[in-house]
Amino acid sequence: MKFQWEAIYETGIDKIDEQHKTFFKLVRELNDANRMDSPADISSVFEQLVDYAKHHFFTEEEILKEYSYPYFDEHKLEHIRFTQKVKELHEKFSDGHDNFLPNEVLSFLKMWLMEHIQGTDMDYVPHLKNEMNI
Ligand SMILES: [Fe+2]
Repeated sequence: MKFQWEAIYETGIDKIDEQHKTFFKLVRELNDANRMDSPADISSVFEQLVDYAKHHFFTEEEILKEYSYPYFDEHKLEHIRFTQKVKELHEKFSDGHDNFLPNEVLSFLKMWLMEHIQGTDMDYVPHLKNEMNI
């Protein structure tokens, strides 16, 4: 999986799509840092991923709240779980003696892309587009 942005990932809501593109970029950087065997870089990208999640989820939740998305609570719960898991994986990496990123990390991010970005996020698109008149 290349983690390249494609039209199928588009929500059509510019602010969200721009931020989702950053997610792809960070995963590619994480993969590169792993291939270069650079623990310092892996750690730094991990931190950026935690910051990204905080910022992106805040933006998304503000939009969902503003347009009274009926499944807001369930959606937010997935965001909370993601943030916890990324933090946990980062800690695990920082504590480990292995310089390589465990496969678990990339498969978790891939799963997030398929289940959340392509799944749960797409579920709010019709509601938002309708409310936003776009
Ligand atoms: Fe989301």
